[in-house]
Amino acid sequence: MRLPGIYRFGLTAAGVLLLAFGVASAQTPQTARGTPVEQIAAQTCAACHGPAGTSAGGGFPNLAGQNEDYLYKQLGQFKGRPGGRPLRTSEVMGPIVQSLDDEQMKALARLYSRQLPGPGKATNPTLVEAGRSVYWKGNPANGLPACVSCHRPNGEGIAPDFPRIAGQHPEYVVGQLKAWKSGTRGGPGKLMSLLVPLMTEQEITAVAQYVAQLK
Ligand code: HEC
Ligand code: HEC
Repeated sequence: MRLPGIYRFGLTAAGVLLLAFGVASAQTPQTARGTPVEQIAAQTCAACHGPAGTSAGGGFPNLAGQNEDYLYKQLGQFKGRPGGRPLRTSEVMGPIVQSLDDEQMKALARLYSRQLPGPGKATNPTLVEAGRSVYWKGNPANGLPACVSCHRPNGEGIAPDFPRIAGQHPEYVVGQLKAWKSGTRGGPGKLMSLLVPLMTEQEITAVAQYVAQLK
């Protein structure tokens, strides 16, 4: 009477083992090569944005944990519409996005939005306090609104329109703010295009240091 029970258990355990082995061996080639979008990320994007979406620094932005709609929108802005000027000019990203189709851009945005953002840090900690004031209060004297109202206390932004800026590299943040000032990023009348011209050089440098250490 007992034997069949043990037997059944034995079979089940063997079945589970077989199943696990089957799944594992079926997944081996998949993980080695990755899904098509993982392959693009590893072969094309990782060199500058890091293998997990957090880059080494400088002008290369972290992408990990950024909101998906925002990432997709940026890729489209580097590409521009046929015949139109791209809303975001970059000698580096411009040519890269030309080789991506819409589905690939959507999949890449999804992939990076699901990666965990790493902690950032200020490269010039002495400016963090001055940056905090810009971030929380803006500059009422010249009408600059506080960054916190759109990018939130921890810099996580408000999906889908206001991006996450917490932990972003200071050099990149300064570069982007200056791009809005000089007109190489964003269309006329857009929020950041309107407010960056109200900022002084000192405010730009300081707020970038504050943003970098937000988490
Ligand atoms: C050779 C380096 C390089 C490679 C490769 C590269 N990028 Fe970039 N990427 C940059 C730089 C530099 C910027 C900042 C451009 C600017 O100044 O606006 C950027 C910006 C971006 C942004 C905007 C981020 C933001 O916060 O607004 C996205 C999204 C992006 N890259 C995605 C990708 C994807 C996806 C790939 C792979 C298909 C890729 N990049 C490959 C250098 C690179
Ligand atoms: C009224 C809302 C609003 C306020 C206030 C605001 N921002 Fe933004 N910010 C935006 C929007 C919208 C975008 C995305 C623009 C786009 O889609 O290209 C953005 C984008 C950014 C980016 C680019 C992020 C990236 O990954 O490239 C930075 C950096 C930034 N803001 C910094 C600031 C700072 C610093 C302040 C305060 C001085 C500030 N913002 C105040 C709405 C705002």
